[in-house]
Amino acid sequence: MSKEVEEEITSVLHENRLFKPASDFSKQAHIKSRAAYTRLYKKAEKDPEGFWGDLAKSELHWFKPWKKVLHWKPPFAKWFVGGTTNVAYNCLDRHLEGPRKNKAAIIWEGERGDSRTLTYQDLHREVSKFSNVLKSKGVKKGDRVAIYMPMIPELAIAMLACARIGATHSIIFGGFSAAALRDRINDAEAKLVVTADGGYRKGGVITLKDKVDEALEEAPSVESMIVVKRTENDVVMKVGRDFWWTDLMKGASADCKATALDSEHPLFILYTSGTTGKPKGVVHTTGGYLLSATVTSKWIFDLKEEDTYWCTADIGWVTGHSYIIYGMLSNGVSSLMYEGVPTYPDPGRFWEIIEKYRVNIFYTAPTAIRALSKLGKQWPKKYDLSSLRLLGTVGEPINPEAWMWYHKVIGGGKCPIVDTWWQTETGAIMLSPLPGAIATKPGSATLPFPGISADVVNKAGKSVPANVGGYLVITRPWPSMLRTVWRNPKRYKETYWSDIPGVYFSGDGARKDKDGYFWIMGRVDDVMNVSGHRLGTMEVESALVSHAKVSEAAVVGAPDEIKGTAIFAFVTLESGQTANDALKKTLKTHVTKEIGAIARPDQIRFTDNLPKTRSGKIMRRLLRDIAAGRESIGDTSTLEDYTVLAKLRDDDEA
Ligand code: PRX
Repeated sequence: MSKEVEEEITSVLHENRLFKPASDFSKQAHIKSRAAYTRLYKKAEKDPEGFWGDLAKSELHWFKPWKKVLHWKPPFAKWFVGGTTNVAYNCLDRHLEGPRKNKAAIIWEGERGDSRTLTYQDLHREVSKFSNVLKSKGVKKGDRVAIYMPMIPELAIAMLACARIGATHSIIFGGFSAAALRDRINDAEAKLVVTADGGYRKGGVITLKDKVDEALEEAPSVESMIVVKRTENDVVMKVGRDFWWTDLMKGASADCKATALDSEHPLFILYTSGTTGKPKGVVHTTGGYLLSATVTSKWIFDLKEEDTYWCTADIGWVTGHSYIIYGMLSNGVSSLMYEGVPTYPDPGRFWEIIEKYRVNIFYTAPTAIRALSKLGKQWPKKYDLSSLRLLGTVGEPINPEAWMWYHKVIGGGKCPIVDTWWQTETGAIMLSPLPGAIATKPGSATLPFPGISADVVNKAGKSVPANVGGYLVITRPWPSMLRTVWRNPKRYKETYWSDIPGVYFSGDGARKDKDGYFWIMGRVDDVMNVSGHRLGTMEVESALVSHAKVSEAAVVGAPDEIKGTAIFAFVTLESGQTANDALKKTLKTHVTKEIGAIARPDQIRFTDNLPKTRSGKIMRRLLRDIAAGRESIGDTSTLEDYTVLAKLRDDDEA
């Protein structure tokens, strides 16, 4: 973190509205009052191990009890030491004994209106069969399996099958390019890839298998590929390496015992962007992760047996891992999964699905709320949304206007909104209202979950006073914390536990108001939050400079009404190259090919030079100001070449 960053944490948002939980909601909630929350919070603060240990006993099934709740050798944690359990067993098998056996586990809606429901028993059978398929392809406990799929039930089956036999899954979002997929497969040294011929999106077909084919040209660890047939898309199957899902499932036995796994066995790796060009493989393990996912799901979404719950995230991101699959199925809930986009075939699609399945709890991202609100309330008004009783948001700060629209137009003014702050690394929600207990303020993620110690501090690690901006940190280990960066403990330590002494640094700026409510102010490092997805500026820069005509690139985020942040690239060309619109287009396509469409720059500006300090560091603050159309007010005394800035501005006005 630089001085530049510290100067920038000034808060501008002032929001005074307060929404108290309705008494009929509180009465039926798991946590019914502010006093009940405070009791839990204090209990956990006084004896964190006792608090989490009791919950691990009451909420999860263990094959063998643990000897010690926490082993903490900063910054490395082990939770439920010596205990053995299995995530798939907790999500499936334990529900088969009682009335949940024939209850819907996954209710799936395809983009084209096709649908499928898998009961707990159905899902258990499919997962057991696919576990045997994985074994037949030589996958063993500890091997890595890469999953690159559309949002179809087979994705859930594949991940649960990995969990069942102790293979570590690495799910790669279907929007990533072949190159991004290859890098992730290689970093994890995956043995097998599960994919599909394609998926439906925005009315068209997205292809997937061809991208895996391309990735595997340079991914020697992969021995086989299993392909689900979802579309009519033509694919080429390589004999001996590629197999159709249905062919393998046909002969598979539905008998596969869940393996008893050590609580610290790695459940999954999920790659996320950081401040370098290379994404980090965030590692989550078994017992602690499942405990946090289970308890946060239950209390924050106030889950009841009869609820239909829908999270619109893609399972390729952490939200889908924790709050479509693991946290929900562990609670025996009916979790809805949707293949497509919110606006296909028209902007009423989300609301139509809510009406169709009588959805009770709905969890989505501010970017979707903003985009859908812009399209007008006539769309939600066409549908009966009266089944909704609770709403949630995640991924980025929600602006109060969007919050109010969500509250009034979607929630009919009666649903509490849980604004949930967390990260890929935290595994589960860290800050959020408990909907029956905590009054909400639009734009605030409110208070820490019981058992989570969060604070806002300065660089020295000292708490800052109320309403002063600082760094958001977690001061004690928690069960679902990332354990390391895959095969890179040094990077783990440096990234999260070095900037501020003794605590986990989230990379976010925040302030606490006089009531102790947290207000997230966004990333303070070189990471952008684009439509709720994290992208490192360095990652996009490396993609740009990998093009032969580019000499240097600097990427910054610029405010965007819908996406939250738009990607703005300043590019210096190799000598002799001509800057023109055709090249801008080429470079945008190049980034899409290198990373994926989510990283495609919204704007490219060519420049002869980039503003740098005397030591050669690009002055991003100035570029951010230019991208946002702001006057630069910061210190420019170390700027290497004053004329650069003036030139960039002139271009802006041209
Ligand atoms: O900047 C914060 C923002 O999203 C980042 C985490 O991104 P990712 O690991 O991709 O996970 C997203 C889903 C959990 C955070 O560092 N963020 C997430 N939730 C919120 C948020 N910012 C403000 N309010 C939130 N509720």
